[in-house]
Amino acid sequence: MPKTPPTAPAAASDDPQDWDHELSAFGPDPNAAPPLPAEPVGGPLASARAALERLSTWVPIRALARRHRHRIIDHLLALEPQDRYLRFGYPASDEQIRKYALAIDFGRDEVLGIFNRRLQLIALAHVAYGLPPTSASQGSMAEFGVSVLAQSRGRGLGRRLFDAAALHARNRGIDTLFIHALSENRPMLRIAAAAGAVVERDGAESAAWLRLPPDTVGSQVEQALDRQLGELDFQLKRQAQMLSGFVESVAEVKAHFDAPSRPDKE
Ligand SMILES: CC(C)(COP(=O)(O)OP(=O)(O)OC[C@H]1O[C@@H](n2cnc3c(N)ncnc32)[C@H](O)[C@@H]1OP(=O)(O)O)[C@@H](O)C(=O)NCCC(=O)NCCS
Repeated sequence: MPKTPPTAPAAASDDPQDWDHELSAFGPDPNAAPPLPAEPVGGPLASARAALERLSTWVPIRALARRHRHRIIDHLLALEPQDRYLRFGYPASDEQIRKYALAIDFGRDEVLGIFNRRLQLIALAHVAYGLPPTSASQGSMAEFGVSVLAQSRGRGLGRRLFDAAALHARNRGIDTLFIHALSENRPMLRIAAAAGAVVERDGAESAAWLRLPPDTVGSQVEQALDRQLGELDFQLKRQAQMLSGFVESVAEVKAHFDAPSRPDKE
């Protein structure tokens, strides 16, 4: 949900009625998590194990460019009214969605997508950079917005896009990833809280801040590898789709000539 974020809090409130208390029913306490998500502890073996775990549940994520605008628009238009409300914070009309997609600045922001085998864009994240700091001590911030098509939810795609966005922002030297969500949006707040974000509820709206550690050679390599694999996966799916189209055309032509009722065969 695009919105200029307020100043990031130094720490979550101690109020027992606060949002952290509510979140504890369906996710880890964000205050209990370390303030900065660190590199895996335990040396190279632990890092290798973490990398293997990530690979075993790997999801191809592709960086989208201007030429993908029509796919982005199709994805967003496919969202149900309630999902549009959760995504944008208002019941976005088709026209507002088109305007939003046309206004994305691909030179500044990042748009990440997950495609299914038929090359339909089933999950989309927008990482908006360049939000002006509201105080000298605030540092740099990026805002995360995401949507997953209804039929593809609950498979961890939202979380994957969040992790990828955090990695990319970190590698750009961003200190904080900001998420603005409606307080009723449990999946989104759960993703943020599980990553260690500080979540603050303000009535019907909530804000989450995830502090990012500085980039490392490892985090840069991880992003580069993900980019190559995501691109390779997309090209393979495209070739498979072209091949399947070709096989279907050949089958159609063959069926046409094999048809017994053709007048020239009679
Ligand atoms: C928010 C959204 C992107 C999540 O996508 P997703 O791919 O289904 O998310 P994941 O599968 O990664 O699940 C995220 C977490 O939410 C949990 N979750 C899913 N549905 C839930 C629900 N109704 N109540 C509580 N938790 C829920 C999942 O169990 C998971 O937690 P876990 O990994 O600890 O089990 C998706 O619901 C969506 O597109 N919503 C509409 C747009 C929107 O709300 N965007 C966010 C505002 S920017």
